[in-house]
Amino acid sequence: VDASFTVARSGHDEARLRSGLGRFLRRLQGRTGDVLTRSPAADPGSATLWVDVAAASPAIPGLGDDESYRIDSTGGQLRLTAGTVVGALRGLETALQLLSGDRQGFFWPAVTIDDRPRFRWRGLLIDVGRHFEPVEVIERNLDAMAAVKLNVLHFHLSEDQGFRVESRKFPRLHELGSDGQYYTQDELRHLVSYAAERGIRVVPEFDMPGHVTSWVVGYPELASAPGPYTLIRRWGVFDAAFDPTRDETYKFIDTFIGEMAPIFPDAYWHIGGDENNGKQWAANPKIQAFMAKHGLADAHALQTYFNQRLLTILRRHGKRMMGWDEILQPGLPDETVVHSWRGAKGLTDAAKLGYDAVLSAGYYIDLMNTAAAHYAVDPLPADSSLTDEQAARVLGGEATMWGEWVGPETIDSRIWPRTAAIAERLWSPREVTDVDDMYRRLARVSGELEDLGLTHLRNRGVLLRRLAAGQPAWPLEALADVVEPVKGYRRGGQQPEMTSLGPLTHLVDAVGADSPGARATRAAIAALLDDAPRFALGRDALTDRFSAWRDAAAGFDRLAARAPALREVAPLAADLGAMGVVGLDALGFLAEDVPPPDGWRDAAIGVLDEAARPKAALEFPAVPLLRELVEGAAMTADLRAMTPADWRAAVRAKAAPPRRGRG
Ligand code: ACM
Repeated sequence: VDASFTVARSGHDEARLRSGLGRFLRRLQGRTGDVLTRSPAADPGSATLWVDVAAASPAIPGLGDDESYRIDSTGGQLRLTAGTVVGALRGLETALQLLSGDRQGFFWPAVTIDDRPRFRWRGLLIDVGRHFEPVEVIERNLDAMAAVKLNVLHFHLSEDQGFRVESRKFPRLHELGSDGQYYTQDELRHLVSYAAERGIRVVPEFDMPGHVTSWVVGYPELASAPGPYTLIRRWGVFDAAFDPTRDETYKFIDTFIGEMAPIFPDAYWHIGGDENNGKQWAANPKIQAFMAKHGLADAHALQTYFNQRLLTILRRHGKRMMGWDEILQPGLPDETVVHSWRGAKGLTDAAKLGYDAVLSAGYYIDLMNTAAAHYAVDPLPADSSLTDEQAARVLGGEATMWGEWVGPETIDSRIWPRTAAIAERLWSPREVTDVDDMYRRLARVSGELEDLGLTHLRNRGVLLRRLAAGQPAWPLEALADVVEPVKGYRRGGQQPEMTSLGPLTHLVDAVGADSPGARATRAAIAALLDDAPRFALGRDALTDRFSAWRDAAAGFDRLAARAPALREVAPLAADLGAMGVVGLDALGFLAEDVPPPDGWRDAAIGVLDEAARPKAALEFPAVPLLRELVEGAAMTADLRAMTPADWRAAVRAKAAPPRRGRG
């Protein structure tokens, strides 16, 4: 691949393919630095890249479209053959991933690839209700989705905290429900077309009957309690729920869906349906009387009644209904797609009952778990209890980027690169499960996503420099290298003052969920201990690492003196320094094979217990391995009486429980 590069095309031709190829060539030459010719090759056989496409893909991508392709790169040519345009686009992404280099320049390795997705539904949910994300944020994330072959953007457009689309029929929805942060209808049409250009469907979600505060600020008559309502600024589950007993509610929804349906041409429509707490329904005597009259035993039955009426409306607008797994109740119409979030059980229950189903339990990227944890979740694991017919109803899965703790500056780093691991799980065979190899490839893909304008790597520096307020930031960098945001829903407990209007500019916002520095520290400590009784493997590098932690703590004091925004992380810097000293001590005892003095082990564990207490919504994922290092150092004498393997197992067992101070 050099300046003599030529392209040939044969078969079906259309604008979407030509622009896809244009984007491909820009990215390719961006990597090689060569000016690539756009002129067609004289004959396809001599072209560097030959793209042959049999037929068009539907203009509006749909579930189950053919995305397969074949790559043959032999004899100085990469030949890409696909049945459809979207298949060719998927293949071009693979070609970019295959590009390799050596002393002689860039090349494609000689390979033959026959590729097609394992699952038809491979999605990413972006919640713009809690925090709005401007058009360019969605665009660049669509580019990244295409790069990892995801094919559904699940656009979560309304929440208690915000209503994000322009409605001309009901203008108070966006006027009073959005703080002025919403997409115009033109912008929505643009995003849908931007996605379709890349073979990505857009499934809108307008969550109901709960999660509707932003609707009822402007239209309180839709709610089941009188109001008035104001936009919610906090996080949680709130009471506002549509009144399912009034015909006017359905007329409103019908008119609204009629307005939105042409903007979102996908055949599927997500109604939400989650976390309706039923409080307004229980407190409203008219609603209670309605339930008694219609024999509706409880809130679930009333919600199913609501869903049935909703389904009729959606059908009339040519849409198929999809909702979160709470809607799986007796009487749910067959054609509904069940979206499992509370556990994989929802998925298997739905498939067994004859519903199509999509998995998100295990793919909640907002919970800040590692890529490895998500990678291990399979919509159809080898031990699945489903029959082949039931398994065929499992359409795929979706990563969910819920919006409580993300803004335009940080959302990329919450989605990427971890979502690439989920994308692979949904595309590749079940047997592809090597975690180390996944991380090796993930690091590479992560860098390549930057070519598309993604900010998941670069914005860390932006946020750290801002926090450092013009001071040299190296002590902060050292700390940022080894901390991760607290997992699960614990950030709210750590930062109770935060609202939807609060700043997402803290250290916790700068660092990712799956810190390579923390992973490297854990791996280095494990390798050193596995090297018993020599303890030589990687010792020098660990010594440097622990020394850097110790020095960073000292440097941090000076930095924080002039950067007051860093005050909240000063205790973490102190923990880091103390852990550095503990680590250096432990390395010394192990290397010299001398038992530590009395009291050292308890004091060191005390340091680690303190470091294990989350602060500023951050934690040190390497603490468990540091415990092993400390216990190992405390047990040097035992090595004379045990085999290294038994000693290692004993160290691991000693370090495991109890983890005081966690959580
Ligand atoms: C959800 O996370 N409430 C679907």
